[in-house]
Amino acid sequence: MKQRIFSGVQPSGTPTIGNYIGAMKGFVDLQDKYEAIYCVVNQHAITVPQNPKELKHNTKSLAALYIAMGIDPDKSIIFVQSDVPAHAQAAWLIQCNLGIGELERMTQYKDKAAKQESISAGLLTYPALMVGDIVLYDAAYVPVGDDQKQHIELTRDFVDRFNYRFGQGKDLLVKPEGIYPKNGTRVMSLQDPTRKMSKSDDNVRSFISLLDPPKTIIKKIKSAVTDSIGEVHYDVEKQSAVSNLLEIYASLSQRSIDSIVEEYQGQGYGAFKNDLAELTVETVAPIQERYEKLMAGNDLQDIVTDGATKANKIASETLARMESAMGIH
Ligand code: AMP
Ligand code: TRP
Repeated sequence: MKQRIFSGVQPSGTPTIGNYIGAMKGFVDLQDKYEAIYCVVNQHAITVPQNPKELKHNTKSLAALYIAMGIDPDKSIIFVQSDVPAHAQAAWLIQCNLGIGELERMTQYKDKAAKQESISAGLLTYPALMVGDIVLYDAAYVPVGDDQKQHIELTRDFVDRFNYRFGQGKDLLVKPEGIYPKNGTRVMSLQDPTRKMSKSDDNVRSFISLLDPPKTIIKKIKSAVTDSIGEVHYDVEKQSAVSNLLEIYASLSQRSIDSIVEEYQGQGYGAFKNDLAELTVETVAPIQERYEKLMAGNDLQDIVTDGATKANKIASETLARMESAMGIH
């Protein structure tokens, strides 16, 4: 039997090329080797305020993008988190076995909390929901971007603790491992290379969304910040912005950074940016074409309904196992 993998993306906007490079591109390759389950984690998205209409649209849109990118519903399960009640139920059991101190240490919590006027309790307990997503499916591996490492480590700690407290010598839950992009790619903002590229950034010029029209992509890449050194060179300390563009280039073209640096030697940033813009447009164009078709037709609804049925079956069994071990059912 194939081992299982699980991953999720929040429908808090349209995925960026950061999401694509850091996580989603890998989802497609992994579906042959593993039994893959990919979730649209809409319950995670509401840990910060969302416009309800937009959230609903973005949820459907993200499911369509998963498929448009190449996730095959005949091979993998694609579903929406809120269609499977076990996630919210498991999150409660998990919260009762995590410490506030552990949750307060999460850097994603600290970053997001710093941006909010009022911080919801859900933003703090968010990792419990994520731990639930993973353990409910007995996932052995979790492909995620670098920024999720801390959450994966927390999941591993939780599994040890849960098995120790309630397993009576048996492993009730599977301890997952993260699968991270090879060179540890964290795509940074096009406007501020000290911050990660995020689909919920207020400054739309800081990210490229997978659904940006070609003209917008070109404009955003041309106006990406660089430096006054004027040489395409990889140096994360001294040329962080250009190094970020180089990483995007390398990842989308599957070329080495060295070979790209060599190609643009002595040419300034103009040609480099033009070619990167073209490469990005070429990457997203076929995805956008398939996406439009899915959004207009009826297949998408059938796919997520079927995904939810399959996910429900697996998740409710694990939930029952957890509840029974804890003595509440
Ligand atoms: P999120 O947008 O926070 O739901 O993230 C979805 C997935 O994309 C996660 O696995 C993240 O680690 C990954 N991700 C998000 N932003 C970036 C980024 N700027 N660079 C690389 N990976 C990212
Ligand atoms: N926390 C992840 C993020 O912000 C999204 C996520 C939620 C996730 N549940 C998950 C990722 C389970 C992997 C597995 O990017």
